[in-house]
Amino acid sequence: MAVRESWSWEIGLIFAAIGSAVGLGNIWLFPMLVGEHGGAAFLVPYLLTVYALCWVGLVTEFNVGRIAQAGPSRAYERLGLPLGKYLGAIAVFRVLMVFAWYSSVVGWTLRYIFAPLDAAFWKDPAAYFSSVASGWQSALFAVIIIVLTGLIVMFGIRKGIEPAVKYMMIALFGILIILVLRAVTLPGAIEGLRFYLIPDFSKLTPRVALTAMAQAFFSCSLAGAAMVVYGSYIRKTDDTPVSAITTAFGDTTVAILAGFAIFPIALAFGISPKAGAGLLFVSLPHAFKQMIGGSFFATLFFILAFFAGLTSTVSMLEVSTEALLQYTNMSRKQAVALLVTIISLLAIPIALYGVIWNYARYFVLYSGPLVAILPPIALYWVYGADRALAEINNGAAIKLGKWFIYWGKYVYPVGILAAYLYNILG
Ligand code: PHE
Repeated sequence: MAVRESWSWEIGLIFAAIGSAVGLGNIWLFPMLVGEHGGAAFLVPYLLTVYALCWVGLVTEFNVGRIAQAGPSRAYERLGLPLGKYLGAIAVFRVLMVFAWYSSVVGWTLRYIFAPLDAAFWKDPAAYFSSVASGWQSALFAVIIIVLTGLIVMFGIRKGIEPAVKYMMIALFGILIILVLRAVTLPGAIEGLRFYLIPDFSKLTPRVALTAMAQAFFSCSLAGAAMVVYGSYIRKTDDTPVSAITTAFGDTTVAILAGFAIFPIALAFGISPKAGAGLLFVSLPHAFKQMIGGSFFATLFFILAFFAGLTSTVSMLEVSTEALLQYTNMSRKQAVALLVTIISLLAIPIALYGVIWNYARYFVLYSGPLVAILPPIALYWVYGADRALAEINNGAAIKLGKWFIYWGKYVYPVGILAAYLYNILG
């Protein structure tokens, strides 16, 4: 068997992990949820979750992959989890389904990069959105995203994912800074900043807190799949706690900055932040329309969303690619070609009719809590907490103490379980 690839340096992993974490979750869902749940009040449980739980989850998932040198299915098998192979396969399959749906939305962002050139877009943003978000255009762009993702993943870790994600993430940060500077210097920006930064604690209900928690976990890609696979390419000499903390921090920074770009722009032009899913694709265009240089900033904005999305789909596809490489004799190129075909066949009807998505949604929703608690169960309960801590501390500049075990063994699984269960029952 060929030698397993690894990231060429620690920063390579950090870029890739932040690339996976920063996605539509940050640019689309996060502002939408903040808008719907009363602005700043949502930020409090969100930030608490990131700093108390998300980085712990990332340390856990990275180390499951690193110890087992494999993605979820094989990894749980190697760590000794009963039925681990099959439970892990559920996690792999789930991400494949998420990808089939997610590709449509990334497709819209790609389509929207060119939208400012089209008069119809400016004339009636809502009508334009309906024409882009359904029908053949939506299906076509979803397939384009899947193929583009395949072209990157085909070249493996060092030649494909690492360089592609690095350049896209650098561009993403640059664009985000430009947009934030433009937004906060708009006349009237203060309204948006007030909404975003001054919490009204009467809005902070348990429902809002659990929604914020689930969003934080999703945003950090914590679902027992992508981060386990990325972790399996980390060398023993690299520092996983620092990588995990940097990833959680980087992801949150992008989400927070996205809010600094979106809310001042929206409120400066009298657009309600409570627009839900249409905030990005319908409401913001109304604001760009009134802004000097609006075309330019709209284009930049959708390039940002597209890069965020594509670096996430890369991590989603790598999960099933790695699984095929584990269990078959296929080459990476063959595995990617097969998966691109299968995922496109799933994505087309989802984009066209949403039918399959209704079934897939149940599967994605109901398997969520299970796949999310598998990494801490496999690592701390089955493999063993003390052995796990020794492995985690391999390469770590600041060693984690015994307290971390309690956090990983009890607090983290309870937190992630509560949030994902609420998603089903709430
Ligand atoms: N974290 C990504 C986002 O915020 C989504 C994602 C989830 C990516 C799970 C990979 C795995 O959009």
